[in-house]
Amino acid sequence: MDYKIKDITLAPKGNLQLEWAAMHMPALEEVRKDFLKTKPFKGKRISALLHVTKETGMLMRCLKAGGAELALGAGNPLSTQDDIAAALVKDGVRVYAWKGESVAQYNESISKVLDFDPDIIIDDGADLHTLAHSKKADVSAVGGTEETTSGIHRVKAMEKDGVLKYPIIAVNNANTKYLFDNRYGTGQSTVDGIIRATNIFIPGKIAVVGGYGWVGRGVAMRLRGVGARVIITEVDPFKALEANMDGFDVMTMDQAAEVGDIFVTATGDIDIIVGKHMKKMKDGAILCNTGHFDVEVDVKALREMAKKRREIRSSLEEYTLPNGRRLYLLAEGRLVNLGAAEGHPSEVMDLSFCNQALSAKYVLENSGSLENKVYKIPDEIDRMIASIKLKALGIKIDKLSDKQQRYLSQWEYGT
Ligand SMILES: NC(=O)c1ccc[n+]([C@@H]2O[C@H](COP(=O)([O-])OP(=O)(O)OC[C@H]3O[C@@H](n4cnc5c(N)ncnc54)[C@H](O)[C@@H]3O)[C@@H](O)[C@H]2O)c1
Repeated sequence: MDYKIKDITLAPKGNLQLEWAAMHMPALEEVRKDFLKTKPFKGKRISALLHVTKETGMLMRCLKAGGAELALGAGNPLSTQDDIAAALVKDGVRVYAWKGESVAQYNESISKVLDFDPDIIIDDGADLHTLAHSKKADVSAVGGTEETTSGIHRVKAMEKDGVLKYPIIAVNNANTKYLFDNRYGTGQSTVDGIIRATNIFIPGKIAVVGGYGWVGRGVAMRLRGVGARVIITEVDPFKALEANMDGFDVMTMDQAAEVGDIFVTATGDIDIIVGKHMKKMKDGAILCNTGHFDVEVDVKALREMAKKRREIRSSLEEYTLPNGRRLYLLAEGRLVNLGAAEGHPSEVMDLSFCNQALSAKYVLENSGSLENKVYKIPDEIDRMIASIKLKALGIKIDKLSDKQQRYLSQWEYGT
């Protein structure tokens, strides 16, 4: 079997991680048990581009239980956990990923994942969908899925331009994905990444969060939870107002640059922190990004501007500016929660990857009737995932009575 990873002897270590993840992903386990019986992917090939974490490992095992043959690449050059990659190769997954791939190596790995001629493409950020649409005239895939907000922007742009060659399920847009993964998952794991990279004391620090979308609000909430004073920057007046009424200071990045101790970008947009902001920052300011691509902090400008660069410790680089101030960049400006920590905890990825597994099944079973468009996962599947998770957590909820249902759908009864 073809594969390219760092070190196959790490497999036993990876298996222990996977065992630990399995304990915390009960909903995905229910899906896996069902797949084992029903084999929805029998004889089918799936190519996936996802951060190679223990949670992705559990998704691979779930799809494999469903009969799929699998090829896997990383969602980002820094996000692979090499022990998990090794364990998955031992499971029979063609993995092309290792931590610290160069951009050229990363692109080569994605090509290999696509050369597997998949029936389904699972993606996180749409690099694989984009390659599938630009590399080959005859795309083998009959459907795909997309995990994250930035990837949804890209596949929607493809849909708008009329170039999509297969239907794509927008996994990110399921309630059981963005409400939990983007908000609570990124909230916790981003703070985890900042702490692992720096081990700084957060109480009393001024943290600036760029963007108050689902990710931004999770990060802001959790930074406040560990004692930071949080400032939000936004371009959307509703989000800005919401941040204000949630009790955060709201200002422009120009204003925030002068006062922040820790900067976190979470917009999915480009050029949130650029040279003119960096020049205003305090000595010792920490910069990181938790949006999908490394375009939010202008790392090129920082490198060009700096007169000195040192690597202080893993995931922590020091740049000395001509004004003598030192700025500290985490995880090279790539996703800090995956570059400097391990990504989201298993409990929250349990929901996201139930969505991935069931979306892959759905798009395969319905490829004949779906158009080459971006679809939301059907509401009944989204609800079913929430119900499975509640059951796994031992939480019961009330049910609408017939009388309540009638009341909620009538107009006659009022005051
Ligand atoms: N780190 C992770 O593990 C992880 C997890 C999920 C999503 N993401 C990524 O995080 C990013 C944000 O995702 P989301 O779901 O919160 O998206 P979202 O659309 O809900 O929020 C983005 C917010 O950024 C704001 N914004 C856009 N341009 C801005 C600018 N110039 N200045 C200030 N604010 C600006 C928007 O108004 C919006 O409120 C995406 O790139 C997404 O793919 C990362």
